[in-house]
Amino acid sequence: MRNANRQIRLKARPTGLAGPEHFEEAAEPVRPPADGEALVETLLLSIDPAMRVWMNENPGYVPPVPIGGVMRAGGIARVLESRVPGLEPDDLVQGRLGWQSHPTLAAAALQKLDLALGDAEAWIGPLGTSALTAYFGMTTIGGLKPGDTVLVSGAAGAVGQIAAQIGKSRHARVIGIAGGAEKCAFLTSELGLDAAIDYKATDNLIGAIKAVAPDGVDVYFDNVGGPTLDAALACMAVGGRIAICGRISQTAAPELYGIRQLGQAIGKRLRIQGFVVSDFHDRYDEGRAWLAGELKAGRLRQRLHILDGLEQAPTGLRMLFEGGNTGKLAVRVSQ
Ligand SMILES: NC(=O)c1ccc[n+]([C@@H]2O[C@H](COP(=O)([O-])OP(=O)(O)OC[C@H]3O[C@@H](n4cnc5c(N)ncnc54)[C@H](OP(=O)(O)O)[C@@H]3O)[C@@H](O)[C@H]2O)c1
Repeated sequence: MRNANRQIRLKARPTGLAGPEHFEEAAEPVRPPADGEALVETLLLSIDPAMRVWMNENPGYVPPVPIGGVMRAGGIARVLESRVPGLEPDDLVQGRLGWQSHPTLAAAALQKLDLALGDAEAWIGPLGTSALTAYFGMTTIGGLKPGDTVLVSGAAGAVGQIAAQIGKSRHARVIGIAGGAEKCAFLTSELGLDAAIDYKATDNLIGAIKAVAPDGVDVYFDNVGGPTLDAALACMAVGGRIAICGRISQTAAPELYGIRQLGQAIGKRLRIQGFVVSDFHDRYDEGRAWLAGELKAGRLRQRLHILDGLEQAPTGLRMLFEGGNTGKLAVRVSQ
């Protein structure tokens, strides 16, 4: 409805998993744009594990979402009215939209999409922030080289799928770790990975990795942390690189897992480096150009997992922590 901006606001801070009980729906009148602002209609909202961190009192690297505030989120929108030079009605933009249907936002929060690179779904998926995370994490942080043996955890997820395919496109041998037989079959049969390990089906993850990487892992792209990171540490090759991208297994855990295998870093001369995708903000165009080229050439695929309706956003956030998504999770707010 054009005259109401539907919103989902943070109601309470979770201690463990987040879900619908921590949010409330609200609506306010649509606000006409002032100079330097645009009124937009949200099409797609990205659902990301970091959102659970933003709900904490002290997220660390960004301010918390205030209680009663609209939940912070990135997404894709269509311009309805604009008082921003260079933005016209019907332009598609990406930006910090929040969980709301018709926000009025300052120009600084919006970026016009280059539709020559891909459509709205491509921009939320294989050209979006999770894909850029995979690109810089694998290339610059992981130092990926042809012939490397690469291990990716969370491999069937948004970042993981792209990281794994970047490995394949750069002639590495790629092993994915994911939860469940269906996700593992997707990795090997649809994405062409060399092997996939169902971590939920083994009580010996170290043995399972060593069975498919007998000469050790050169690059480990870590999306999950905890016991999976520990097992990977035990399986690294000399000179291996570990890109610490995320630690979803620890984000909402009641107790943090203590890493035991860090001593491996000494004898194996490992380089372990964390990163935040925004560190590479100045190189986003380079990353997107490469991803768009791979996409057009048919060498890159990304499965999107789209939920319908703004009201599905809190459920979506919970799904990430229960493995309910395969691929990039997003919510469609409007067509
Ligand atoms: N550093 C950065 O700048 C940056 C940017 C974006 C994202 N990230 C991080 O990258 C990671 C992946 O994000 P994403 O958006 O691509 O999410 P995603 O992988 O699409 O979804 C999350 C997946 O994590 C897995 N998971 C959940 N709980 C787990 C557990 N306890 N142990 C192992 N796996 C678990 C589930 O897959 P299974 O079914 O396979 O368990 C789930 O589907 C997150 O840690 C996120 O915080 C970092």
